[in-house]
Amino acid sequence: MTDLSDPTWWRSAVVYQIYPRSFADSNADGIGDLPGITSRMGYLRELGVDAVWLSPFYPSALADGGYDVDDYRDVDPRLGTLADFDAMVEALHDNGIRVVVDIVPNHTSDRHAWFREALASPAGSAARQRYIFRDGRGPGGVLPPNDWESGFGGPAWERTPEGQWYFHHFAREQPDLNWDNPEVRADFRTTLRFWADRGVDGFRVDVAHGLVKDMSEPFDPWADVAQMQRGDGSHPLWDRDGVHEVYASWRAVFDEYDPPRFAVAEASVHPRRRARYASAEGLGQAFNFEMQEADWRVEDYRRVIDSGLADMRESGSSTTWLLGCHDTPRVATRYGLPVGPGEHAQQVARQWLLRDGAEPVLDRALGERRARAAALVLLALPGSTYVYQGDELGLHEVGDLPAAALQDPMASRSGGAEKGRDGCRVPLPWTAQGPSFGFGGNGAHLPQPAWFGRYAVQSQEADPSSTLALYRSALALRRRLARGEDLAWVEDEPQVLHFARSGGWHCVTAFGNGPVALPAGQVLLASAPLEDGRLPADATAWVRMG
Ligand code: NOJ
Ligand code: CA
Repeated sequence: MTDLSDPTWWRSAVVYQIYPRSFADSNADGIGDLPGITSRMGYLRELGVDAVWLSPFYPSALADGGYDVDDYRDVDPRLGTLADFDAMVEALHDNGIRVVVDIVPNHTSDRHAWFREALASPAGSAARQRYIFRDGRGPGGVLPPNDWESGFGGPAWERTPEGQWYFHHFAREQPDLNWDNPEVRADFRTTLRFWADRGVDGFRVDVAHGLVKDMSEPFDPWADVAQMQRGDGSHPLWDRDGVHEVYASWRAVFDEYDPPRFAVAEASVHPRRRARYASAEGLGQAFNFEMQEADWRVEDYRRVIDSGLADMRESGSSTTWLLGCHDTPRVATRYGLPVGPGEHAQQVARQWLLRDGAEPVLDRALGERRARAAALVLLALPGSTYVYQGDELGLHEVGDLPAAALQDPMASRSGGAEKGRDGCRVPLPWTAQGPSFGFGGNGAHLPQPAWFGRYAVQSQEADPSSTLALYRSALALRRRLARGEDLAWVEDEPQVLHFARSGGWHCVTAFGNGPVALPAGQVLLASAPLEDGRLPADATAWVRMG
């Protein structure tokens, strides 16, 4: 049985990301919920993950998929109650699985009690000091305070009925908090304790590189601010050194608990700035999105792995590996689209989405094959691996969601430049047939395509060659094999990625060429059938030597 008191559990954990609204719907309203998660405990246990991270389940108008939080210390009534949350945590812990919740400190929703109070209060009031309110420019203040743009497109300022403007880096329903205000700081420490007291093991910190801002005037023009990563702490909005004071105070809260609570930063910062977020005095771990951005090329994988290992050395933390999350086109699809010279899979997938998945032609089988090979690479690396729900099924992005079904503000605010992130958030298929493929009793909040049935958990459980079966075997083997945090590169053919972990565990991947010879040893697992004992193209094998 898993030892839940181990304070270092997260260093090599496999963390499964649940997007609660799209995981399992227990009451047939088309929306996934917390009792739905509890009802799938057997699935999570069989998968063999160490922890789950839940995207926000807090009360929200869903202007940004729940990343617009109305109340940080409650459960959205459509997703359940605090009692349902407690029951879910208990069930997860009983199954040896830890719980990580998402904390969204950069902005609240515009329905949060603080923001309502701010709108009802005059300019300059204490209620407005919790957010970033400014007077507009021009006669009557009709122009926004500056020309800055929102990350989802359109202006980053919204005018209030009484005339002042407020700043929102994301959607207009997500006003940014003022982290210079001690009341804001104190309130988030209260929220952390609220969930830690309920047994939560850790936190995923949304937009961790935001929060602290320099909003002093004169403002730099947008042309100078648009590039987010400066790498030196001088950007007015992102990655300012002052944010680490906030995390030092959070660390003090985490360390009030035994074992100390864990945290991982979602910080899109310059690689040389990542270590500080991951330091033991700060949040402790930081996402490294380089693998998610990488193309299916041996040189990309080598570079990204080396950079992750360098992070580990610099921060003393373990690094994170991920192929996908709720913000990016699914990996099976990215790796199944043709990527020309000078192009990147992420971009190609976004273009493909804009054409409703019609063009270029997606090679589903190739994408799944590569995604399986990639999963075995990630699961053999030292550090922690995050698996986005549905990737363990080899699920593809849904490319042809009709415009009327789209929920993501990125789609509506980008003026047609992005289709948005709904295609990876379509509710999971559990059964090959039936209403919403077993997700719930009555439809799904995003429409599931007919082909989802082929990827259903039920079908894959019955098939030992399925992607689900591969993940289950890999996770079980990893528990047995992983020791320490070392990795040694092994010289091999140029198109082969080959590394060894201690205990004689080798991971060999053939990128594009093949079949290639495997080292003489026992083949423990392969992402595709071997051909006369050789590893075919776009496949990975784990081999034990000696
Ligand atoms: C990052 C989250 O992952 C994304 O889904 C969200 O839109 C933004 N942060 C804003 O909260
Ligand atoms: Ca429901």
